[in-house]
Amino acid sequence: MTAIDEVKSKLDIVEVISQRVPLQRSGNSYKAPCPFHQENTPSFHVFPDRQSWRCFGACATGGDVLSFVMKAEGLEFGEALRQMANQTGVTLPRRGQSPQNETAYKINEDSRSYFQRTLSSAQGASTREYLSERGLDKLAIEAFGIGLSPTDGESLKNHLIREGYTPEELINAGVVRTGDDGVSRDLFRGRLMFPIRDPHGNLVGFGARTLDGSEPKYLNSPQGPMFDKSRILYAMDKARTDIRKDGAVIVEGYMDAIAAHQAGFKNVIAQMGTALTEFQVEEIRRLTGKITMALDQDAAGQNATLRSLDVVLQNFRTKTVNNQRTDGSTRLVDTDPRIIVMPPGQDPDEVIHKSPSTWTQLVETAIPAITFRINAITGNGDTVSPDGKARCVAEAAPFIHLLSGGILQANAIELLADNLSVPIDTVKASLSRPSVNRRSRRPEQPRSAVSTASPFVKLDHDPMEEYCLQLILSYPELREQAGGLRPEFFTRHENRELFTRWLDVASELNKDNILTQIKRNGDDEISNHLDLLLEKPMIASDANIRSSEIAKITSRLEERNLKAQKSEEVKMFTDSPPDVEDDENEHVLKINERIKNNEGLRRGQTKIISG
Ligand code: GTP
Ligand code: MN
Repeated sequence: MTAIDEVKSKLDIVEVISQRVPLQRSGNSYKAPCPFHQENTPSFHVFPDRQSWRCFGACATGGDVLSFVMKAEGLEFGEALRQMANQTGVTLPRRGQSPQNETAYKINEDSRSYFQRTLSSAQGASTREYLSERGLDKLAIEAFGIGLSPTDGESLKNHLIREGYTPEELINAGVVRTGDDGVSRDLFRGRLMFPIRDPHGNLVGFGARTLDGSEPKYLNSPQGPMFDKSRILYAMDKARTDIRKDGAVIVEGYMDAIAAHQAGFKNVIAQMGTALTEFQVEEIRRLTGKITMALDQDAAGQNATLRSLDVVLQNFRTKTVNNQRTDGSTRLVDTDPRIIVMPPGQDPDEVIHKSPSTWTQLVETAIPAITFRINAITGNGDTVSPDGKARCVAEAAPFIHLLSGGILQANAIELLADNLSVPIDTVKASLSRPSVNRRSRRPEQPRSAVSTASPFVKLDHDPMEEYCLQLILSYPELREQAGGLRPEFFTRHENRELFTRWLDVASELNKDNILTQIKRNGDDEISNHLDLLLEKPMIASDANIRSSEIAKITSRLEERNLKAQKSEEVKMFTDSPPDVEDDENEHVLKINERIKNNEGLRRGQTKIISG
């Protein structure tokens, strides 16, 4: 038995869930209003015999006891597992962090203190002057570890070598780079240095701002498994606690985040100069249901910004929080992402220095992201011709459906109708037309925390899932054929987690890079499991066979997932027929349809393969 199984075997799902949700018996199962979305009829079911739960209503998710705890408490898989292991007295095997990262973190720390000393030295006089002109005080400079890189291009390297590091280690850590002439030099020269930490406080890299106007304005540590802009949020290590309390505010620049913290707004984090990713948004969502993005007026309508916004809208729907009440019950918070469009030509940095109260006011009067999004659609689209209007409605539909009823949705529809100068009922009618509806009804689930798997597996491993993972992990070229795989097809946590991490390294083509990135945390069950999988022998030696295998296995896993959903649904109908909502009916019909198609598909494929 793996440690994960051991933890699960010691927990009773009904007991765990009823500590947080008032469960009512209903036949052989239990039900309650879903804690993850707002509803009147209870569509949240717990099945003791399978030790699983599922919401048959708007969220259409489910899983086992661990995924419930993850979702209810906003925890990562590893955190939930550790918490439950503590409760059940199971000792989890530990493994150390990858030694390679450890060295790089140390090199970065040594570099940071070198940069700080340089800033304090005579060399740093004009930079200190610059910082004070920009309103940064000593405490903030110290707290954020701001420093200055020497201009000569070799003193950091020489210093670190004297400290005992090898040139290779310095290159791996990203502070030294070999130029075209074969000579290795300090990467950062004469720049203002911002150390960048991951949420655990590890120093993963630097942002380095020019001081003499040279390009690029910011130079970052090289992108890689350790310094990955798509995962880092600047100042997250400092903002975590306050984000839990007050919600998250996202700004665009390092300087904006530092100014905010200096003024006491400690729930502020900064993007890394790239569009927000699902990973980043999910990290925030685990902490809070409240997110506000400050947008530069110039950037506000641009594609990269809209992309960030879409990721936020898709992932910020509902969020459960622990109630303050002593019974420890959970309560649902409808999330309402908001946008601050900054006054023209100003950024948060300037506003905060000039008047902290203006900043508070801007945050408090931020507009709903959906409003901003709809205005962007109608602002960029044709709102005159009937076709144009219809296109705008179709484009807005997915966002409106994300709101699943309520005042926010009603307001959004009204706004859209208003912008298009058509009656509200016309917009409503076209929103519910199947062509618009089908595409948008159930938007993609956030990748990690939510799952729809049913953990009724008796074995302590799942050969089909493992084979699937072996294939995709060993043969990166199968990625395209594996496009139909979804995290919820994997019923075993360790497999689903591996798969989710694999999904996150989407652009990577090199097998070794994929594996290092998946093991990036280095310290958990998942890396052990990965090693085990890779050691297992695998027979599919021929590329054609492998690609037909992956197609078959995708369809099998999907079918199994659909069937599991279906059997829970059957149970729900027999347990509590009177409460079924239209929505649920439709969901069941859709599942039936998909099972049918899926079987047909596989039969077709098998035929092709065998003859
Ligand atoms: P100041 O101009 O000193 O106020 O800096 P800022 O931090 O406010 O930066 P700015 O508003 O110009 O840009 C916002 C963010 O985008 C920065 O903090 C960086 O994360 C990123 N960024 C801006 N320019 C560059 C660049 O040239 N390269 C990279 N990699 N990132 C950049
Ligand atoms: Mn700025």
